[in-house]
Amino acid sequence: MLEGREGPARQKAMDLLVRYGEALGAERLVDTNNVCGTVGASTPFLRDYGAKHGMDAVFSEFSLDSAEVLEIPKVSVYSSHLQQGLDPDHAELQGIPPEVVKVYRQGEAYTAKLGVQPLNTCAPYTVGNVPKMGEHCAWMESSAVIYINSVLGARTNAEGRESTGAAMLTGKIPYWGYHLDENRLGTHLVELEVDVESTAAWGLLGYYVGEMVQECVPVVAGVRQAPDLARLKHFGAAAASSGGVEMYHLAGITPEAPTLETAFGGKNPKEVFRVGKTELRLAYEQVNSTAKDADVDFIMLGCPHYTIGQIEEACRLLQDRRVHENTSLWIFTPRATKQLADRKGYTRIITEAGGHLMSDTCSALGRVLPKGTKVAAVDSAKQAHYLPAIMGVQCWFGTTADCINAAVSGRWSSELG
Ligand code: F3S
Repeated sequence: MLEGREGPARQKAMDLLVRYGEALGAERLVDTNNVCGTVGASTPFLRDYGAKHGMDAVFSEFSLDSAEVLEIPKVSVYSSHLQQGLDPDHAELQGIPPEVVKVYRQGEAYTAKLGVQPLNTCAPYTVGNVPKMGEHCAWMESSAVIYINSVLGARTNAEGRESTGAAMLTGKIPYWGYHLDENRLGTHLVELEVDVESTAAWGLLGYYVGEMVQECVPVVAGVRQAPDLARLKHFGAAAASSGGVEMYHLAGITPEAPTLETAFGGKNPKEVFRVGKTELRLAYEQVNSTAKDADVDFIMLGCPHYTIGQIEEACRLLQDRRVHENTSLWIFTPRATKQLADRKGYTRIITEAGGHLMSDTCSALGRVLPKGTKVAAVDSAKQAHYLPAIMGVQCWFGTTADCINAAVSGRWSSELG
């Protein structure tokens, strides 16, 4: 491929991967048949670029580091698309003009033509892309990376647009970091001294642990009740936001930590720390540090994108209630889950209550907020971490029930506070 025998696009892709691997000190490349990245025009800049120069130019320049516009062939391996910059079915509500949606649709058609599955979500593992234990993958999106490494035992580093684009065309990725056994072992022991129950509380725990270990591999011991998919999703997303955690173990629960000894590979942890009520309180205060005004304009749920079970919970909490006239409720989910919610009647329940179920994007990533939003509320520590920084709004964090109560009353109060 490097010699160009499979065409100029694959040559550029291989050249990029070789340079990237050498910079990382990788000893070789490894085969992958599961790539999750972004190839369309997901940001305003890329949409403009695509509108002017065409989608092959976007792929050449921003995925293959090639100023020369190449004809991009179909991907060689199973590839799926992560979240996008907008929801084309709710564009007007998100303040996106029709001409932008047109370019978005072109990007989407281009993605499909390349053979990339348009899952359009940051939680592909909830809608069919479920890599198996030990499988070498090339995934972007920190919340998805930490989930498949830790919960599924698949192997990926947090890749970028360029390396995933090149991996789609070659089926290779540098063999380093979390592809190697030794880097997957625990480094820090977290002794959990409290019961962690709600999804929001798992987010707080993740936020605290991420802050403490930064880019290391925490092993949490003392979890009394195994968390479900949604709790693991929120825990990992938070740890990847406050620190740069890409892999963790829950002793006795996650697949590479049947025992504490296995999780650490028989070695001693570098550090041991405890997490009790005080530490979770500290995380709560930190996550809520931007929020002051109790009047809430906007409730955003679905970071990472909601599962069907989380949508069902939101519907149960919304039963026979209406969203306040001064408040908007937007819930984000993968588009495949949205279709299920449509059929199951959940979308109707949310819409009749005055809310909206959306797909493909989210507020922080797509920079989409209801007009005039000053104070938001979320049940995701990750979204609370990014939304104020990206959009300059205040942001409350609490349980899903807190958020639905705020959507209905227009005022914030939290069972966690
Ligand atoms: Fe997904 Fe947006 Fe959160 S892309 S993980 S919902 S910041």
